[in-house]
Amino acid sequence: MASATSGSTQTAQRISIEQFVSGLRKLREDDFAGVTAALDYITANPVNAESLRPYLFWNAQHYTRNLVDKTDLYELLAICWEPGMRSSIHNHRGQNCWMAAPIGRLAVQNYRVISEDLAAQRCEIVPTDVVEITAARPVAVDPLNPVHEVRNCREWAERAVSLHVYSRPFDSCIVYSVEQRTCGEIGLDYTSMYGTLV
Ligand SMILES: [Fe+2]
Repeated sequence: MASATSGSTQTAQRISIEQFVSGLRKLREDDFAGVTAALDYITANPVNAESLRPYLFWNAQHYTRNLVDKTDLYELLAICWEPGMRSSIHNHRGQNCWMAAPIGRLAVQNYRVISEDLAAQRCEIVPTDVVEITAARPVAVDPLNPVHEVRNCREWAERAVSLHVYSRPFDSCIVYSVEQRTCGEIGLDYTSMYGTLV
């Protein structure tokens, strides 16, 4: 989980995104219900950067969310991060999430929710641990502590691309501000779908 569990770090043969998707489609509903089975699959099957090219779109202002595959059970996104970019602090609406970084690396800052009142848009959250995602070390978000932000640290000075598996798919999430102690729901859009800008 982002706060605890990562996959095995032994070197695995890189496969194309098409091969990765065909294997992902063979996983069963049960494999997405806990975090271990899908994390094992993602760790054992790192994706080569070259095959991702059709799905990568870059924006100087904001990271991009690029849909690679979607079923009733999961959606697979490639997210493109310029150096220095970060997500909002967010949750995943109770859905599981796994992240790998076929290109570059990313830091996940986890938070613990002390209190949350969505109707009043008030919250108190505190930062906990930081986990790094690399090609060899995908992570799963901890379902019990699902609030986090993702960042491509400026000092790393390289682009990053992360693959995100969400099960089940969701199109909104809650975002949080530590300083303002606020939270609220936002909608999630795709930058591209199946290799085409939307
Ligand atoms: Fe996330």
